[in-house]
Amino acid sequence: MRAIVLEKTGKPEVLKVKDVPTPDITNQDELIVKLSYAGVNYADILSRKGQYSWAPKRPYVPGLEGYGIIEKVGNNVKNYHPGDKVIVVARNGTYAEYIKVTEEQIIPAVDFFSPEQNAAFAASYMTSMVGLYQMARVRPREKILVQAAAGALGIATVQLAKAMGLKVAGTASRPEKISFLKEKLEIDLAINYVEKDFRKEIMQWTNNRGVDVVLESVGGKVFKNSIDCLSPMGRIVVVGATSINYSFLNPFSLIKAWRDIPRINVIKMIRNSYGVLGLHLGWLFTKDKEELMPIKDQLLKIIKNNKIAPVIDTIFPLEKIAEAHRRIETRKNIGKIIIKIG
Ligand SMILES: NC(=O)c1ccc[n+]([C@@H]2O[C@H](COP(=O)([O-])OP(=O)(O)OC[C@H]3O[C@@H](n4cnc5c(N)ncnc54)[C@H](OP(=O)(O)O)[C@@H]3O)[C@@H](O)[C@H]2O)c1
Repeated sequence: MRAIVLEKTGKPEVLKVKDVPTPDITNQDELIVKLSYAGVNYADILSRKGQYSWAPKRPYVPGLEGYGIIEKVGNNVKNYHPGDKVIVVARNGTYAEYIKVTEEQIIPAVDFFSPEQNAAFAASYMTSMVGLYQMARVRPREKILVQAAAGALGIATVQLAKAMGLKVAGTASRPEKISFLKEKLEIDLAINYVEKDFRKEIMQWTNNRGVDVVLESVGGKVFKNSIDCLSPMGRIVVVGATSINYSFLNPFSLIKAWRDIPRINVIKMIRNSYGVLGLHLGWLFTKDKEELMPIKDQLLKIIKNNKIAPVIDTIFPLEKIAEAHRRIETRKNIGKIIIKIG
C-alpha cells in the first residue's frame, strides 16, 4: 500500500510516499480500515520535528485521525462489520491507504458529514467538547476567549461555544483570519494579537472582570497573558503550546522553549481563585474511551441542532503532504487541512 513513512525528523520534505506492506489481522480483536481521508493536525508537525512526546519510535506512519470503510474484522470484534464507515483516532498511522486498529480506536462516522468532514472531526471537535463541556463546565452567557481562533481547533471551539450560548472572543494573527472570524463565524470580538494587546481588549470587553473561560493552545506570552484575562473563578483549558519550537542543535532554542513552556503558580491560582485544566484527547481515547462516548453523543446533538460543520481549508493529495505541513507551519490555514488518500 501507499503510505507516508517518517524515517528521520526534519523539514516537511522528509515526508515521502513509500510502498509498504498492507497490514493484515494478526489478532482477532483487530480490524482493517481502508482510509480515504486523513486530518492533518498540529501534533503531526511536532511529530515530524521529533518534538511530540506521544509519538511512537521511528520509523512510523504519522497521522492521528482519518475516515474510511472497514475492510476486514477479526472474530472477536463485536460492534463493527465490513462496510461500516468509521472515524479513526490513533496514535499514528492514518497517512496510509490502510490501517490496523482495535475497536477502541474507531467511532462510527457522522452520517450527516461528508467523508472529508468526518476526517476533520475528532481531534478538533472532541477536544473542544471535552474541554468546554466536561472540564470547564461552561454555562450559557459566560464569556470565553479562544486563542488561535481561526485554526482547526479554534474554529471548532468558537462554533461550539456559540452554540452553547457563550459570548465568544477570539485571537488570530492575520487580517484575513480576523475577517473570517467576524464574517463567517460571527464571533462577538475578534482580536489581532500580533497588532494589539489582547489583555486590554478583553478587559474592555468584560468591563474589567475578565473572561470565565480561556481555551489556550499557543503557550509562551500568550499563555501568561491569558491567565491575566481570567475572571475570579475563571478556568483556563490548556491543550497545547503551538508557538514553542526548538532544535537540539541550537541551545538558544532550548533555553527559549524552556522559558516559554506553560507553567502554573499554584499560590497565584489560590490568591486569584482560578483553575488551570490540561487536556489530551489521544490519551483519553486510550485510557477512558467509554467515558468519552456520551460526551460525543452530546456533541453530535449540538452539532446537528446548530448545523455546525467542520471548516476545511485545503484538501491535498497524499503526494503533497509536505505542502500540507508547510501551510500549517506558516500559519496560513483557516480551519483543517485534509489529505486525500484514495
Ligand atoms: N490536547 C489535545 O488533545 C489537542 C487536540 C487538538 C489540538 N491540540 C493543540 O491545539 C493547537 C491547535 O491545533 P490545530 O491542529 O487546530 O492547529 P492549526 O489549525 O494549525 O492551528 C494552530 C494555530 O496556532 C497559531 N499559532 C500561534 N503561534 C504559532 C506558531 N509559532 N506556529 C504555528 N502556528 C501558531 C496559528 O494561528 P494564528 O496565526 O492566528 O496565530 C495557527 O493557525 C495545537 O497546539 C495542538 O497541538 C491539542
